[in-house]
Amino acid sequence: MNESDKRLAALAAVEEVRAGMSVGLGTGSTAAFAIEALGERVRGGLAVQAVATSLATEAHARAVGIALIDLPARIDLTIDGADEIDGALRAIKGAGGAMLREKVVAAASARMLVIADGSKRVAAIGAAKIPVETLPFARNFVAAGAQSYRAAIAFALRLSGV
Ligand code: A5P
Repeated sequence: MNESDKRLAALAAVEEVRAGMSVGLGTGSTAAFAIEALGERVRGGLAVQAVATSLATEAHARAVGIALIDLPARIDLTIDGADEIDGALRAIKGAGGAMLREKVVAAASARMLVIADGSKRVAAIGAAKIPVETLPFARNFVAAGAQSYRAAIAFALRLSGV
């Protein structure tokens, strides 16, 4: 894990933010560098509105002076981290536990910059453990579904002799 590479990636992404933009703010240690850098630009006079992918990012954005809004129909640019990135630039996200909001923010984004240090580079994505995230009232339903999904996968693997 290379903090200076994370910071460099974050700075390069924040350079893409223009006045008047709506900006999706990711969650995690790499996105935190972007929030810090954007906060500095906001304190220098850049006018943007941000949408946070987690309560932690909300608190961090507020602390550095970035104005927050609820999710709009369209976000101009989202900056977020990743857990794994393969050679074809396919990425896995969610290990930081912000999956539900980060997927909604990504879906609403006209453009998304994924920032990461070299430790996220993998030959094949899929090793990272990703939580199943659900709305609290649906937890029993999702847990039951995950159990039967797991059983179905195990059965299919047995059939294919894996
Ligand atoms: C949040 O749910 C995640 O997608 C994070 O963006 C991801 O885990 C990367 O986090 P780090 O930048 O802390 O490695």
